[in-house]
Amino acid sequence: MSQQAATTHFGFKTVASEEKETLVAGVFHSVAAKYDMMNDLMSFGIHRLWKRFTIDCSGVRRGQRVLDLAGGTGDLTAKFSRIVGETGQVVLADINDSMLKVGRDKLRNLGIAGNVAYVQANAECLPFPDNYFDVISIGFGLRNVTDKDKALASMFRVLKPGGRLLVLEFSKPVSEVLAKLYDLYSFRLLPKMGELVANDSESYRYLAESIRMHPDQQTLKGMMEGVGFEQVEYYNLTQGVVALHRGYKF
Ligand SMILES: C[S@@+](CC[C@H](N)C(=O)[O-])C[C@H]1O[C@@H](n2cnc3c(N)ncnc32)[C@H](O)[C@@H]1O
Repeated sequence: MSQQAATTHFGFKTVASEEKETLVAGVFHSVAAKYDMMNDLMSFGIHRLWKRFTIDCSGVRRGQRVLDLAGGTGDLTAKFSRIVGETGQVVLADINDSMLKVGRDKLRNLGIAGNVAYVQANAECLPFPDNYFDVISIGFGLRNVTDKDKALASMFRVLKPGGRLLVLEFSKPVSEVLAKLYDLYSFRLLPKMGELVANDSESYRYLAESIRMHPDQQTLKGMMEGVGFEQVEYYNLTQGVVALHRGYKF
């Protein structure tokens, strides 16, 4: 088992590893109520297309069991739930009870109830049996996890042989020009938007910084392979601003 490093990063700050979980919790308790609105605003609605693509690449079918990890307000869960139907199940797992509550209320208002279960859990130590899920997704969640290798290994354990993991996450823009524009947008505009709309510039500064500290496309591919995933490939979305990684357990 991998030993946890003594320090890690929280955005651009170096913090003790055991501190990060509490700091991340603070961010998501703070943003939960305005999370969906801010997502639409910040991404100009494009996050909906990234999530649609994730579902399309999942190969999910009626009757299957899906884990939407770090599922937050449940966008992916809602889509999975409609596809797996009454004979399937979707587990929306998240470490943060504020995000889970917003997610549960939203999905119930959408009439999605019967085949969705809500579980408060840390991605690093998933409370599910071995070989349990057909599909696991983690959307914009891995970046916030303290020990990413441990979390990926935990996902590998609970995935069935033949199952797929989909990691949707911010990544490295493919062109220098885009990277410069994106920096301007993220460090100048994002915190201001956070301040105006959610009265919280710090959480959106953390968002911009955490994106820069997250492993790039090739590094994440290597990390997935390192815990046992096979046929790992990734798709750059919006010129690499986001990447979808997919890997299989055989
Ligand atoms: C940016 S939100 C993404 C929510 C949703 N998946 C989406 O794409 O809209 C990140 C989520 O990751 C959750 N999270 C952070 N660290 C986690 C951990 N160690 N285990 C499980 N969930 C975690 C947060 O509570 C938050 O709800």
